[in-house]
Amino acid sequence: MPVAIPLEDELGDVLEKALRDAGLNEEQLAARSGVAVEKIHDAEDYRYDELLGDDLRRLARTLRLNEVGFRALAGNRYPRPKIAGLPFCVHPMHMPFGVGVVNAYAVVDCATGVGVLFDAGSEFAALKKVWPKAVRKIEAVFLTHAETEHAGGVPGVLKRHGLATFYGPRGSSHGLDYWPLGEGETVVVADFQITAFTTPGHCAEHNCYLVRRKGVPKGRALLISGDLIFAGSLGGGYFCCRQLLQQAHRIIDALPGTTVIAPGHGPMTTVANERKYNPFLG
Ligand SMILES: [Fe+2]
Repeated sequence: MPVAIPLEDELGDVLEKALRDAGLNEEQLAARSGVAVEKIHDAEDYRYDELLGDDLRRLARTLRLNEVGFRALAGNRYPRPKIAGLPFCVHPMHMPFGVGVVNAYAVVDCATGVGVLFDAGSEFAALKKVWPKAVRKIEAVFLTHAETEHAGGVPGVLKRHGLATFYGPRGSSHGLDYWPLGEGETVVVADFQITAFTTPGHCAEHNCYLVRRKGVPKGRALLISGDLIFAGSLGGGYFCCRQLLQQAHRIIDALPGTTVIAPGHGPMTTVANERKYNPFLG
């Protein structure tokens, strides 16, 4: 069972990202919403004492956020769905990096422990510390994007598992030899079928991956969402906020609600949960 870990973003982070998406500053948001600018600054600094229910409603409506999810975040009760029913085992590996936590995921056959790895944390030593005993052999590595916090451990994993190369978004610049995967391209490895989605926004070269059990096309699928979709939030749109939002909607609209989402930060969730509650998507 995955360990319960905190959400990546709290209300203040969501507010800050939503402001950036809307192209507004705090003063402009205050003028449009009628919420005092001091309260907005306080919320961005994670102080919510003065924020009333009516303020939350006004902020959500002005920023076009899902009000139910936004209020749930404010009340520290964002819904966390049960993660079950996948036709394979997923092992999330949570590693501290800077002030936060970054995730990698091993997806393996439950009986043999053989499978594939998505992202690798900032360094192999950190990955080794959290490596589950049940994961015995990795036959391919897939990278969502080339930032050090996700990619730094890749060379160590390749060496340890005797792999010559890995898969990543087309156009990535990390100085390593890799096999580029673009939109819709599918790789079959071990018992898994992995399809890439090109999802720029957090950075220019970013992939999400849909994982299915080979030969079980109707079975529940897993989305490795990298820094595109988090439980209760989205990744930062450092390359382009507009594209990130478009891509997140595209992915969440395209997949069945039962699809499990495994983000680069924070806990796992489902497409149905994020469709219903994610402040940016619902
Ligand atoms: Fe990240």
